Amino acid sequence: MIRTVDYLDGKVVLIDQNRLPHQLVTIELFDYREVADAIKTMKVRGAPALGVTAAIGVALGAQEIETADHQEFMSKLEQVASEIRATRPTAVNLFWGVDRILAAARQADGKPIEQIKEELNELARSMVQEDEDTCRRLGRNGAELLKDGDTVLTHCNAGGLACVGYGTALGVIRAAVESGKRIRVFADETRPRLQGMKLTAWELAQDGIDVTIIADNMAASLMRKGMIDACVVGADRITANGDTANKIGTYSVALAAKAHGVPFYVAAPMSTVDFQIASGEEIPIEERSSEEMTHVDGHRIAPEGVPVMNPSFDVTPAEYISAIITEKGVVRPTFEKTLKLLKGEG
Ligand code: MRU
Repeated sequence: MIRTVDYLDGKVVLIDQNRLPHQLVTIELFDYREVADAIKTMKVRGAPALGVTAAIGVALGAQEIETADHQEFMSKLEQVASEIRATRPTAVNLFWGVDRILAAARQADGKPIEQIKEELNELARSMVQEDEDTCRRLGRNGAELLKDGDTVLTHCNAGGLACVGYGTALGVIRAAVESGKRIRVFADETRPRLQGMKLTAWELAQDGIDVTIIADNMAASLMRKGMIDACVVGADRITANGDTANKIGTYSVALAAKAHGVPFYVAAPMSTVDFQIASGEEIPIEERSSEEMTHVDGHRIAPEGVPVMNPSFDVTPAEYISAIITEKGVVRPTFEKTLKLLKGEG
C-alpha cells in the first residue's frame, strides 16, 4: 500500500482521506500553509500521521526562510511552528512532531543556514520511515494478546491511514493475521465523520482481512451476546496516569467492555504519551464544526436551526483500560508506574 504521508524532493505527498473510500487519490503540497490546511480539513488525520505531517510542515516552512542569521531563522521558524500547532489541539503527536524539528534547528546553531535546512529535511524524511518501523514493532507486541479465532472490535481509524502505514490498533490486527491467526474485525462506523466505515473498513478490506461494519450503538449489544473477544483502539493522547483521549465514542466502548468482561486495549506509539499532563481532565478536546453532525456527504440530515454539539474526542479513564500496547512493549496498570518504566524513568 502507498504511504499515507511522504516527503519527496521538497514536496509533501498525502492520500486525500476525504476522497476515500470512493477514490484513492494523492495530493502534492509545496508550501507549509497548504500542509496546515490539509490538517485542518482532515485530508490527513490520525495521531501518528499528524505527528509526521506536522514535522514535515515545519521542515518545509524552513526552506523558504531567507537569512544567514540563526536567531532570525529561529524566530521565523517559530512562526511556522505556531501556524502548524494551531491546526488541531488534541493529538499530542502533532506537537511532538513540531518540537522535534524545532529542537534540531536550535541545536544546529553555528552551522550554515543552508546546511540546517538540509538537516531538517533529512530529519523529517527519517521520521516517515521511523513511524512505519514503530507501527510494525507495536503491532508485533500487541499481536501476542490476540488468539487464533478472535473477533476484535475497533473504533474510528487507527490504521495505516492514521499513520505513515500499517497502523496502531489495525497494526496489532495485521500482525496477528500475518502470524497466521484468524481474526475477524467489527468496525464501528464512528459518527459523525465515519472514519470507521469509510477508512477502517476500506483499508482492512483492501488487505483481505475479515471486516464487518456496525453502527456505533450496536457494540454493547454484540458484547452482551459474547460476540467480541477484545477491543483494540488507538489514541490521540495518553496522560501520565494512562487516561486516554481517542475518537468520541471510545469511552462508551470501554464502558461496555468493562461491563461484559471484554479486554479493552489501547495501541499507540510512545509519542502519544504526554508525560507533562497528569490526568485526562487536562487534555484539550477539539470541538469541530456542527456541519459534521448535521450533514452527511454534503446533504443536510438534521432539522434547520437546532443546535448540535460536536466534541471530536472523549477521554477513557485508565481504570477501563486493560493494557497499553506500544513499540517498547505492553504495559498493564498501574500505568502511572508502568508507563514511566517503559520510558526508562522508573
Ligand atoms: O479526528 P481523527 O480522525 O484525526 O481521529 C483519529 C482517532 O481518533 C484515532 O483513533 C487516533 O488518532 C489514533 S490513530 C493511530
